[in-house]
Amino acid sequence: MSTGALPGFRDFYPQEFAERAHIARVWRDVARRYAFVEYDGPPLEPTELYTKKSGEEIVGQLYNFTDKGGRAVALRPEMTPTLARMVAARASALRKPVRWFSIPQLFRYERQQRGRLREHFQLNVDIVGERDVSADAELVACAADMVRTFGLGPDDFVVRFSDRRVLNAFLADLGVAQGTVPAVYAVLDKLDRQPAAVSVDRLTTAGLSPDAARDLIARVHASKGRGPLGALGPAASAASVEAWETVERYQTSVAALLGGAAGDWLEFDLSIVRGLAYYTGIVFEIFDRGRELRAVCGGGRYDGLLGAIGGVDLPALGFGMGDVVLGELLRARGLLAHGAPMLDFWVAADDPSLVPEVMALARELRARGRSVEYALRPQALARQLKAAAAAGARYIVIARPAAVEAGEATIRALDDGSEETVKIEEWLAGMGRPETSTGRHG
Ligand code: HAM
Repeated sequence: MSTGALPGFRDFYPQEFAERAHIARVWRDVARRYAFVEYDGPPLEPTELYTKKSGEEIVGQLYNFTDKGGRAVALRPEMTPTLARMVAARASALRKPVRWFSIPQLFRYERQQRGRLREHFQLNVDIVGERDVSADAELVACAADMVRTFGLGPDDFVVRFSDRRVLNAFLADLGVAQGTVPAVYAVLDKLDRQPAAVSVDRLTTAGLSPDAARDLIARVHASKGRGPLGALGPAASAASVEAWETVERYQTSVAALLGGAAGDWLEFDLSIVRGLAYYTGIVFEIFDRGRELRAVCGGGRYDGLLGAIGGVDLPALGFGMGDVVLGELLRARGLLAHGAPMLDFWVAADDPSLVPEVMALARELRARGRSVEYALRPQALARQLKAAAAAGARYIVIARPAAVEAGEATIRALDDGSEETVKIEEWLAGMGRPETSTGRHG
């Protein structure tokens, strides 16, 4: 049997776990600053939860099977349907707007490539119960602030956003038939990742003339700097103008929340449509500036999902930020150097008879919140000192028979090798009272 993990799955050795813990710590800290509270749901859900609304792409990647009770179940590939189910179940009891976050592990049977695995951890931040565009602004500000808190700046990342209502009005103004819109979405979603000729081909298959297809693509590119109204010119309808007004309010709110720098990050781009089927309004993705990696984060408004899943009419919006692409980006910038946790003390004895004293000292230090290790079997002092250094201890407490008799021990600092002899009782008292009742030091 192989000792490796399954393809697309990761082992988290302590170094990798420390990196993962660092990412989760920043996520939790920023989510708290934005007043989101943490929740979780089951990792296994009825398959139907995803076939209803998530869209073909994700349904094709499900880890699904029939359980022993004959139920069709799937490992969660995303969190949003679970959130919709949970909020819908208690819709009237929950204070609105609901501001929740979660860090689930998700499973998708993807073709493995850079930045894509078959499991990943994904921060989900969602607001339920608010239609105003200021909620959209709050959300994207939170996502950008997350990335910023990791140490990334405007040279490292960009938030590209659009609005499906703006896109729909834009397509209508260009004479694209309603029934063709989903196929056009799929082409736009891949516009930057496939050659222009392929995009034109696909649009023609969807029913556009080659000229209309080329014109559409040119205008989508032209919208990047100027917005869709600039790209449409006199063809812009009242519906397009109205949809664009919402986007302008959004941009003003984001600038207020993030300060002047927001303009450096936030770019309107009609080709951002998102792969999931349930989005209805503003959608956004965060990318590295060099566009070497896939999106770090993606989200948007999905006002119809709670209705489809739980029969309640509640607007909702949110985003997901994965640990894989983010981790790659941070590692490349040297922002992920989080070593194994520090050991505060190693307690060493230069005589095997002192093992009970070593244990009692460990107990007292641990009760005062310090991390403590010692040799689990009798060893020569020199070996213990070596082990302490290998473990990365900051201090070694050395117990010698005569000193212990006098209530004393030697403390050696491992950074500069300096030593001092202390009265054990006084030294412990200087660290504060024990947090748990441990009895007296023996
Ligand atoms: P998503 O775009 O499918 O959205 O995923 C969000 C982020 O999760 C991606 O930008 C990417 O960083 C990461 N991600 C997704 N799949 C993988 C994978 N196979 N390997 C590594 N990382 C991955 C959603 O899932 C939406 N449910 C997010 C959302 C929440 N929308 C509203 N609320």
